[in-house]
Amino acid sequence: MTDSDYMARALELAARGKGYTSPNPCVGAVVVKNGRIIGQGFHPKAGAPHAEVVAIDDAAAKHPEKLAGSTIYVTLEPCNHFGKTPPCTHKIFNAGISRVVVACKDPNPVAGGGIDFLREKGLEVVSGFMEQEALTLIEDFVWNVQNDTTPFVTLKCAATLDGYIATRTGDSQWITSQASRNFGHELRHQNDAILIGSGTLHGDDPSLTARIEGKQTRDPARIILDTRLTVQETAKVVVQKSTAPTIIVTGPDCDPGKILRLKEKGAQILECRVFENLLDLNDLMIKLRKLSITSLLIEGGGRVAASALAAGIVNKICYFLAPKIMGGNDGIPVFNGSGPEKIKDVFQLARVTTRQFGSDMLLTGYIEPQNRSGNGGR
Ligand SMILES: NC(=O)c1ccc[n+]([C@@H]2O[C@H](COP(=O)([O-])OP(=O)(O)OC[C@H]3O[C@@H](n4cnc5c(N)ncnc54)[C@H](OP(=O)(O)O)[C@@H]3O)[C@@H](O)[C@H]2O)c1
Repeated sequence: MTDSDYMARALELAARGKGYTSPNPCVGAVVVKNGRIIGQGFHPKAGAPHAEVVAIDDAAAKHPEKLAGSTIYVTLEPCNHFGKTPPCTHKIFNAGISRVVVACKDPNPVAGGGIDFLREKGLEVVSGFMEQEALTLIEDFVWNVQNDTTPFVTLKCAATLDGYIATRTGDSQWITSQASRNFGHELRHQNDAILIGSGTLHGDDPSLTARIEGKQTRDPARIILDTRLTVQETAKVVVQKSTAPTIIVTGPDCDPGKILRLKEKGAQILECRVFENLLDLNDLMIKLRKLSITSLLIEGGGRVAASALAAGIVNKICYFLAPKIMGGNDGIPVFNGSGPEKIKDVFQLARVTTRQFGSDMLLTGYIEPQNRSGNGGR
């Protein structure tokens, strides 16, 4: 086994914490001595021990005699400050570990300094090993450290080969395979909140919970764009039991009686600025971040997807493509709005990857900040 194998294992462990650790990043660690893993672990949730502590305690319980002179592989720079838990750098130093391999530096200046501390104590530290993989895993955390006013936004859609998300009657169940939909639930679990428009609410009456067989998932907060408060008081998002809130976003002057009844049923109402008869998504992002929502999954439909892109709020796109063809021009398109005149003005995706789910393909890409107003921010 090589350094890459051990760090790959640490990344795999880190990913197990994804969805549970917000607002903290997910982190994994592996302790190795003489070519064998003697301890491993990951940060399970905010407030719980950090990955290094879990891995070192695991090694101390199973192989205490092997800790001295071992190597620890950790996906994020060990913290060097007293927060909810003591610094991981002290734990590493006191355990007698002699080599530390770090994937990425902590973007949070308060928590940084761990690498310098360990080097000053005489440990060998390798930094930046498999850095890009580690940064991708905690991309929402990195975004929030660098930009504390809006959440990291992922736009997810499921389309036919000819670019439709529903038939002309609004039927969309199901375009993609079970395997794709399972991954869609994983995305829900990984995000603090999920957002849909009133078109999808009325058409599908979705529950917007995260359901993955054999996994205790975390429901995202449900955000509904509903300018004139048309939501049915019997809609699943209003009446179902969930640990996460439903937040109905409205414009001004909605029926106060209905607001009261929805609140009594547990829904939250969030009033937002209206621009050209639609809710102002930039204003909404700032309000959601103030509610501690650090990551947001937009699930559509077509009009919401188009205006989210145009508003420049989308960081990442997860585009499922199913090998199906609507075969007409009257379905609901993935992006239902007005497009640019020139190809030079289209949105350009960067860092594109693809992955297969059954017979579907998932294309993932990013819209870098400088490319977010490709069509003039319509
Ligand atoms: N295959 C997929 O991936 C997928 C995913 C989701 C949905 N769908 C399908 O998509 C269809 C619904 O799509 P849709 O385009 O008709 O409706 P939609 O995008 O779900 O909702 C659009 C509505 O949201 C409200 N809204 C408020 N502020 C907005 C803003 N800034 N931008 C856009 N909308 C805003 C508006 O209604 P108010 O004026 O009432 O506020 C608007 O008419 C359904 O058939 C559903 O099954 C498919």
